[in-house]
Amino acid sequence: MTIQTATLPRTDGQGSTTSSLEFCFDAPHQWTFIHKPRRVQFSGWAASFDDGPARILVTAADGSRTEHAVSLERPDVVAHFASQSRDAPLQCGFAFELEIPAERGADYVVQLEVVNDSFRSGPAEFRARDFVSMHWEQNGAEREADTSRGNYKDTWNAVSDNENSAKISVAGYTDEAEFERTSKFTLQVLQNSVGVNADDTILEIGCGVGRMAHTLSPLCQRWIGADVSENMLEHARARTGDLANVDFQPLNGWDLSAIDDRSIDMVYCTVVFMHLDEWDRFNYICEAMRVLRPGGRLYVDNYNLLSREGWDFFMKNMLDYHPLQRPANISKSSTPQELCHFLSMAGFEDIDHHAGDDMWVYAWGRKPG
Ligand SMILES: C[S@@+](CC[C@H](N)C(=O)[O-])C[C@H]1O[C@@H](n2cnc3c(N)ncnc32)[C@H](O)[C@@H]1O
Repeated sequence: MTIQTATLPRTDGQGSTTSSLEFCFDAPHQWTFIHKPRRVQFSGWAASFDDGPARILVTAADGSRTEHAVSLERPDVVAHFASQSRDAPLQCGFAFELEIPAERGADYVVQLEVVNDSFRSGPAEFRARDFVSMHWEQNGAEREADTSRGNYKDTWNAVSDNENSAKISVAGYTDEAEFERTSKFTLQVLQNSVGVNADDTILEIGCGVGRMAHTLSPLCQRWIGADVSENMLEHARARTGDLANVDFQPLNGWDLSAIDDRSIDMVYCTVVFMHLDEWDRFNYICEAMRVLRPGGRLYVDNYNLLSREGWDFFMKNMLDYHPLQRPANISKSSTPQELCHFLSMAGFEDIDHHAGDDMWVYAWGRKPG
């Protein structure tokens, strides 16, 4: 382990120049973006060499103050200082949790100081922001006719009035054998990333005609196909009438408000993000965080702007369409960085991705807990 020493400034007039106190906050650093649960853990060490044990002073956003003891054993810190022929106290570690009040979109700032009998560090600020996902009411009667990219419902209903046109618009083919073949490939990708367990309740965001239903439903407890297009869901229902553990859920296009908190084990969204605006991609990721059980897994994918094939595809779309004639659902790629950043900002852990030289980037993560 690398031991770092934080260099917080001494507060004027309060720090003794002879005091010998070194300290380090392990985590989190400057900005912490969280969802639920709204508890942030702070940990680190503060080795006081001459002036009595250190304490951590926390000033919350409302001005209230609490002190936390520095009393956990940190043999790694002792070993670090021993290599410099200095004796750090064994009990120089600290760890505590703070409850961050839910305040949508706003920064919550706490100030941390390290103090002992003759030393007071300048305050270090830690910020947390709660990303509660956005929920939109959709009132069909009042909604104006709109052909913009964000009007996912009309766009996708318009290309799926019969099963064949729906199949063409989701996959580019109608052959059932090809649906089966590609669903097995997607299954492999899911198994290699988030895994598929027999007791999982699985949610697919943007399930189309239910390409994955026959392949996944025998391998899990329950498979729920959700889509913005009622037409797509109707075709999916018709194609899966023989499956007992399959349900469908219409979506408004931006959130998962019909799905209960903490009710799903694995959420995936495949061949959908290229049709969404970035904000809507991110909101689905935040919503996945909400509906997943602690420890639940999320998988998303898109075309990869940074791959060779992905770049060719980007250029083709650039040259094929006049800027005023781009279709509402034209595919827009992601970068691996975008997807991993979105997962991280929504609070996912164990984030990983795969990006080869083909069209695709896959990203996945796990809800803490
Ligand atoms: C290319 S198809 C992929 C279907 C399916 N995931 C598959 O792999 O076979 C895209 C699907 O996403 C759905 N979709 C588009 N925008 C959506 C949105 N904002 N929310 C939910 N579903 C959406 C479309 O209706 C369509 O069924």
